[in-house]
Amino acid sequence: MNKVLAVALAAAFATNLATTAHAAPDADKRAQDTVAQMTQAEKMLLVFGYFGAEFAGVKPPKDAIPYTAGYVPGVPRLNIPPQWQTDAGLGVATQPSPAPRERTALPSGMATASSWNTKLAYEAGAMIGREARLSGHNVILGGAVNLQRDPRNGRNFEYAGEDPLLAGIITGEQIRGNQSNNIVGTIKHFAFNDQETNRNTIDVKIDEQAGQMSDLLAMRIAIERGDPGSVMCAYNLVNGVYACESDWLLNKVLKKDWGYKGFVMSDWGATHSTTQAANGGLDQQSGWPFDKSMYFGPALKEAVDNGHVPKERLDDMAKRILRAMYANNLMDAPQPKVEPEKIDFAAHAKVTRQVAEEGSVLLKNAGNVLPLTADVKSIVIIGGHADKAVISGGGAAQVHPHGGSAVKGEGPKGFPGPIIWLPSSPMKALQARTKARVTYVDGKDAAAAAKAAAGADVAIVFATQWAAESLDAPSMALPDNQDALIAAVAGANKRTVVVLETGNPVTMPWLDNVGAVLAAWFPGSAGGEAIARLLTGEVNPSGRLAATFPASEAQLPRPKIDGDPTSRDGRFTTDYNIEGAAVGYKWFEKTGKKPLFAFGHGLSYTTYEYRDLKARNDGGKVVLSFTVANTGKRAGQAVPQVYVGPAPASAKAAGWEAPRRLAGWDKVALQPGESKAVSVTVDPRMLAVWEPKTRDWQRRPGTYEFTLGGASDAITSRTTLALPK
Ligand code: GLC
Repeated sequence: MNKVLAVALAAAFATNLATTAHAAPDADKRAQDTVAQMTQAEKMLLVFGYFGAEFAGVKPPKDAIPYTAGYVPGVPRLNIPPQWQTDAGLGVATQPSPAPRERTALPSGMATASSWNTKLAYEAGAMIGREARLSGHNVILGGAVNLQRDPRNGRNFEYAGEDPLLAGIITGEQIRGNQSNNIVGTIKHFAFNDQETNRNTIDVKIDEQAGQMSDLLAMRIAIERGDPGSVMCAYNLVNGVYACESDWLLNKVLKKDWGYKGFVMSDWGATHSTTQAANGGLDQQSGWPFDKSMYFGPALKEAVDNGHVPKERLDDMAKRILRAMYANNLMDAPQPKVEPEKIDFAAHAKVTRQVAEEGSVLLKNAGNVLPLTADVKSIVIIGGHADKAVISGGGAAQVHPHGGSAVKGEGPKGFPGPIIWLPSSPMKALQARTKARVTYVDGKDAAAAAKAAAGADVAIVFATQWAAESLDAPSMALPDNQDALIAAVAGANKRTVVVLETGNPVTMPWLDNVGAVLAAWFPGSAGGEAIARLLTGEVNPSGRLAATFPASEAQLPRPKIDGDPTSRDGRFTTDYNIEGAAVGYKWFEKTGKKPLFAFGHGLSYTTYEYRDLKARNDGGKVVLSFTVANTGKRAGQAVPQVYVGPAPASAKAAGWEAPRRLAGWDKVALQPGESKAVSVTVDPRMLAVWEPKTRDWQRRPGTYEFTLGGASDAITSRTTLALPK
């Protein structure tokens, strides 16, 4: 798989964005020719998007698909279809409605990223893209990849963690999968929308160099890999300018530096002007009823007619939209029809189950309390509605399951609630796989739960933390007194297992007293089965953390999230220059802080050895090679990770944001006793610094140290390589 990684990266890096393999070769020309035939009124149709449900008293157009994210009319005269837009990155969502569409839910984006499996990321994207198309859509608003700067961000469950290389590659593959269904994919939210508190009004301060080496790098890598037809600009301001009218972000970085040929759509409610937005690089106002005005309606026509917005700009807006549509075969493939009966839900369940299995991370397993073996005669399952369901995240990404929520009436009444519990019971799935007597207590009464635990061989506590768009978690602590519940159970039974179903990293005051901890994130439509297969050893855990688990909020660049959650439209700023590009593990290594669990950490039911790391300069490309071996008794998948940093002597000169960066990885299936030689080609940017002067990446001469291991903090082999400029 790594060959794919190397080739694709090198190719993408060598050429600019416009010629990536995916885009239909003549999309540019066809778009150009069509725009030349369009009237101004027809061009105006393309740049103005409707919401697919009633909002602020505005009803959706009759041709919109009911309760969907967006609709943009087409131009039948020129064979331009409408754009039927659906959310989102974890499956086909439905806006709040009396009869939500019932579709397959992927686990959190954090699970896909924690699988470190690029092939699986593609398959996951392809699966939900197929459901989107069979639901009548030709645009999917997925590709959510804001970096995890704050472990309390309510939308981390939609994203891909804290490292730009891992997040960029995984998300790029998901977008490529989405678009393999002849639909336009998206990447969002561009850029630096890394908290939900005051998301519509907060002003993010970030130096360009730091931004280019963090959030923007993740987006750039994902765009190179996935070639999304569209970029969704974000709600927040960046350095004093709204993202959706930022000439720097949209024209200078995205369209000029990166050569991006697709179109920029706004987030729903993120358009704030006509002339500044159009000239600033916005191409489509989405979901206009969420905005204060129809900025890209008659006002844009007037701005074009009186020259405030050049005619060529309107042509460019239309051309970019059409290019994305031609490049993804929206004109050539037959128009999508609403035919959900054609969805192969059984096959799709296997995909989402595999993501949950490969994305869950075994954080602790003392005394091998896992996997559950035949000598376990009694198991008590505690909390998390584990007798019925697994939890899922709220907001635009909310996917509704068959039969609706398995538990009703929990969480906020209105958006982004209520909490949707997916009817996939870990307990039922476990009962089908063990001869042990399995009982359930709901966990509301810690003493009763402890008593039940005392009477069983093993106690399994399912701890949940709901997360949702528009809200950040008040802290990293588990809510609803679950810490006390876990402590009580652990006090009653040494063989206590904690299964975390959380949107985010959480603190674990009870960690020393429990036997095992499995981070299952939001586990998706087949999550119950996936968790049971992991607990019984039917599947050997292979997930590795795509984000650091801090020990406390005090360790964070911003112990308290900036802004005021009770304020609707207060103006606030937040300073990302505190950490700059040193996001996540980079921050911890730069400041010498020790997290609870490190980026890349994850245990298995077998053991691996990572050795003999070598690095060579192969005609300007740095190639790493090493051996990985399965030294245990069970088959499994290792995730060897290589990190790189300037050798201590040349660290200062190198101008890096932190001591080390992830340089590459592979996911390697190994039988017991088997070993494999692995080769990783390093993306040249991982060895370089983004220079403001040249507005691109430059590697400074010096000696660089490479480290190999099974986690960022588990190094078993090192090597150095002197490299010229
Ligand atoms: C939401 C989200 C965005 C989503 C859009 C349409 O507010 O920010 O991710 O795609 O609006 O629902």
